[in-house]
Amino acid sequence: MQLQPIKFAVIGFGHIGKRHAAMIRENKFAELVAVIDTDENLKQIAEQEYHVAFFKNLSDFFASNLKVDVVNVCTPNGFHAQNSIEILENNCHVVVEKPMGLTKAECEQVIYKSLQAHKQVFCVMQNRYSPPSAWLKQIISESRLGKIFMVQINCYWNRDERYYKQGSWKGTKDLDGGVLFTQFSHFIDIMYWIFGDIKNINARFQNFNHAYTPFEDSGVVSFDFINGGMGMFQYSTSVWDKNLESSITVIGENGCIKVGGQYMDKVEYCHVKNYEMPQLAPINPPNDYGNYKGSAANHHFIIENVVNTLNGSSQATTNALEGLKVVEIIERIYALK
Ligand SMILES: NC(=O)c1ccc[n+]([C@@H]2O[C@H](COP(=O)([O-])OP(=O)(O)OC[C@H]3O[C@@H](n4cnc5c(N)ncnc54)[C@H](O)[C@@H]3O)[C@@H](O)[C@H]2O)c1
Repeated sequence: MQLQPIKFAVIGFGHIGKRHAAMIRENKFAELVAVIDTDENLKQIAEQEYHVAFFKNLSDFFASNLKVDVVNVCTPNGFHAQNSIEILENNCHVVVEKPMGLTKAECEQVIYKSLQAHKQVFCVMQNRYSPPSAWLKQIISESRLGKIFMVQINCYWNRDERYYKQGSWKGTKDLDGGVLFTQFSHFIDIMYWIFGDIKNINARFQNFNHAYTPFEDSGVVSFDFINGGMGMFQYSTSVWDKNLESSITVIGENGCIKVGGQYMDKVEYCHVKNYEMPQLAPINPPNDYGNYKGSAANHHFIIENVVNTLNGSSQATTNALEGLKVVEIIERIYALK
């Protein structure tokens, strides 16, 4: 099937917005048409490095009548839902960085608008493309572990003053929302994607060494899976100097698995009845932001998925309902504060 080229714009041209722009540029069926950012200092990079038009806001961009099919939302978390709604109102598809929004209610408004406009909302959860995650999803879907007894997720990261700079949206209640939204929503997504929804949530939170943020830096969350088994999600951004680990341990009736490493990027243990561990594809390195590292650099898969889906040959890897569920689970956990 011959793919039709898809035209993109990116709103929010910071760390991750520039990655989206670069990945769009690298995909031969994608074309970057414009960049939108409130920071006019970025106009030069947009025009000289990317050779695209620059706009200060979505209204100016849509008033220009430049034709695009998709706008990628890479602004701070607290703007995701309102940006998405404005894009859908202008009859474009949306790619929205994680989290889809900061409340379930605003995510519902985005879904309502997308249904009205007959436009797609792609949520960015690129860790799903990591070979160990995809393998874990498959082995659990095939019920190879039998009944799931316990799932433990540990995310022990470093985010300190080097990350929470004064004047940034990071670490603010309205635009960041908390570490489960900004740092760990990828792992809530992996948990929900593989094991389904949770109930009977209990949680404890602490702010150990981030007095300059209005939310916790660490938490211990326990719950039951609706499909059976119990779970525990422990997280912290208080680790000294650098990320320690992001891991998931699964105890099932017919075996145990641990996927660990700094970014859930290594199968550390697999002992499953009548099963031989296959050789997995190599993983991509994490996004490197200088002083700190983020999740896997898999954004090219997202652009590829958008191009394929809009050409009718694939489906959104993470659809809007899944994006909403992650936000809803985090909202239920944070309701226990
Ligand atoms: N998927 C991932 O692994 C991943 C990694 C990093 C960040 N993110 C997400 O991407 C988003 C951006 O994070 P970042 O680290 O790139 O932040 P950033 O601060 O580097 O960039 C944000 C950009 O948005 C611009 N901006 C702010 N308000 C705006 C508005 N109203 N309209 C237009 N532009 C506006 C800022 O000027 C800045 O250039 C966040 O939602 C974050 O959670 C996702």
